[in-house]
Amino acid sequence: MPKKYGHVARLKGGLFMDDALYITDPMALNSILIKQQNWFPESTEFAGLFGVIHCGDGVASVQGREHKKQRKYMNALFTAGRVSKLTPLFYQVTRQLQSKLTAAVAGKPPGQIVDMLDYLIRTSLEIVGTAGIGHTFNSFDDKSKTFEEFHAAITTVFPLGARLFLFLPFLESWRKMEPIWLRRTLAFIVSIFWPTVAKFRAAIYVMRSVYLMLYKARKKVFEEGGSTALAETPAGGRDLMSSMIQANWEADETNKMPDDVVLANLSSIVHGGQETTSSFLARFLSILSEHSDIQQKLRAELQEANAASHFQPEDLDYVEIERLPLLDAVVREMLRVYPPVTFVWRQTTKDIPVPLTYPIQSAATGEKIKELLIEQGTAVYLGLGAANRSTAIWGPDAAEFKPERWLNPAKPESKLPGAYSGMMTFLSGGRVCPGRIFALLEIKLILSVLLLTFSFDPISEPIDWQMGLAIEPRVRGREKEGIQVPIRVTIL
Ligand code: HEM
Repeated sequence: MPKKYGHVARLKGGLFMDDALYITDPMALNSILIKQQNWFPESTEFAGLFGVIHCGDGVASVQGREHKKQRKYMNALFTAGRVSKLTPLFYQVTRQLQSKLTAAVAGKPPGQIVDMLDYLIRTSLEIVGTAGIGHTFNSFDDKSKTFEEFHAAITTVFPLGARLFLFLPFLESWRKMEPIWLRRTLAFIVSIFWPTVAKFRAAIYVMRSVYLMLYKARKKVFEEGGSTALAETPAGGRDLMSSMIQANWEADETNKMPDDVVLANLSSIVHGGQETTSSFLARFLSILSEHSDIQQKLRAELQEANAASHFQPEDLDYVEIERLPLLDAVVREMLRVYPPVTFVWRQTTKDIPVPLTYPIQSAATGEKIKELLIEQGTAVYLGLGAANRSTAIWGPDAAEFKPERWLNPAKPESKLPGAYSGMMTFLSGGRVCPGRIFALLEIKLILSVLLLTFSFDPISEPIDWQMGLAIEPRVRGREKEGIQVPIRVTIL
C-alpha cells in the first residue's frame, strides 16, 4: 500500500462516503498512538461493537482515564513473571493437541492432509480457557457440546457484527440507551425481522452465560475460602480470572471494578487471545510448510535445547524457550510480515496537526506537506501490516519473509513506534496489546512441540488470506468449503 499510495492515503467510505485516512507514516503513527493519543480515541464503531460483544464497559470500549485505570489491572496480569507461571497450563493443552494430531495421522501414509486451522482454533481456545478463565471447553473432544456451542459463538460473533457495518456508528449510543428494558425489547423486535441480528444476539448470550457462571462460582470460592480455596480450583488459582478477582478485592474502594466491568474484561481477554493466535499460527505453519530448510534448522535448535533442559522431560521452560535465537527470529519475522491484526481504527476529537516522516504533496497546490491537519471526526485507519512491510521503512526486501534479518548482529532499525521490535503488530501507546507476552509464549511453545513431533508440507493449491475485519483463509478454487488451512502432516 505505501509503495503505491504513499504513507498517507485518503479513502472514501461509511454511510455518507466521508473522507477517511489510511496512515502508515512513522511520525504520524507515533503522534496518533503515543504523543497525542488522548485526541485519537478508539473509533465509536469499534468501541460500540466491542461494548455490545463483551456486554459492558471493559478496556476494549472505554477511553481516557477509565481506560488507564482498567489497563493497570490488565497489565499486572500479563507481566513476564505471571505469564511464565502459566507455562505448565500451556503444555497441558499443547500435549492434547499433539495426541489428537498424532491419532489423526498415525498409521497412515506420510503427508496426510489436515485442516490445521481447526486444530489451532481448538488449541488457542483451550489455552485461553484454561489459563485465562480456568475452564476447559473439552476442545479436543469431538463430541464436546460446550466446545461446539462456545466455539460457534466466538468465531461467528465478529463476522456477524461486521455484517451490521452500516449500523456500527449507532451501536455505542444504542448500548447506552435507558431504560434497559426498552433497549432489550428493541433488539428483540429487530432480531425477529433480521436473522443476522438474531444470530449475533444468540452468540453473545452463549458467551456471556459461560463467563457469568464461571465468574460467580469463582468469586464465591474466593469469598468463602480466600487464595487457599482458589488454589484448589482446576487451574490451581493461576488463571487470569482468579488473579483478577483477587486484585479487584484487594483494590481500594475508588479503584474497584464493578462485576460487569470485570466480566467485560474477561470476555475481551478470551476474544483477544483466541482468534489472533490461532489464525497467526495456522498461517505460520502454512508458510513453514513451504520452507523445509527452516523447519529442519528449527528442529535441530529445539532438539539441542531439549537435551540441555532443566524443566520436565521434553518441556522447555519459559526462559529456555525465550532464549532460542532461531525460533525467536522466525516468530519475529512472521509477526512482521503477517500480523493477524492488520489495522486499527481511530477517530479525532478535534482538528489536530500531525507531523509526517515522509512529506506528501498537496493535490490542490502541489506544495509539500510536512504536517497533516486532521479534521475533527475524521476516521483514521492505521495500517499495521502495511507499515510493517513498507520498503521505505524496512528496506527493499521488506515484503519478503527473511528470518535471518533478525539474526544479524545489526538488527533491523525501524522508525516505527511499535512496542515489539519496532513493528506495529502489537501496536504501541496506551492501547498496546496487553496479551503480547502471553501470545509470544503460546506461539513459541506450540511450535516447539509441533516441530519436534511432525513435519509439514504444503498442499498443491494456494491458500488465499482475505482481509476483512478478520483475516479469512480459503483454498483457491474451493472457497465454498469455507475457511480452512489444509497442510500435509507427517509424524517424525
Ligand atoms: C499474535 C497475537 C496477538 C496480536 C497480533 C494482538 C494484537 C493486538 C492489537 C493490535 C491490539 C490493539 C487493538 C486496538 O487498539 O484496536 C490488541 C488489543 C488487545 N489484545 Fe491483543 N493481540 C494478540 C494476542 C492477544 C492475546 C493472547 C490476548 C489475551 C490473552 C490479547 C488481549 C488483548 C486485549 C484485551 C486487547 C484490548 C486492549 C485495549 O483496548 O486496551 N491479545 N491486540
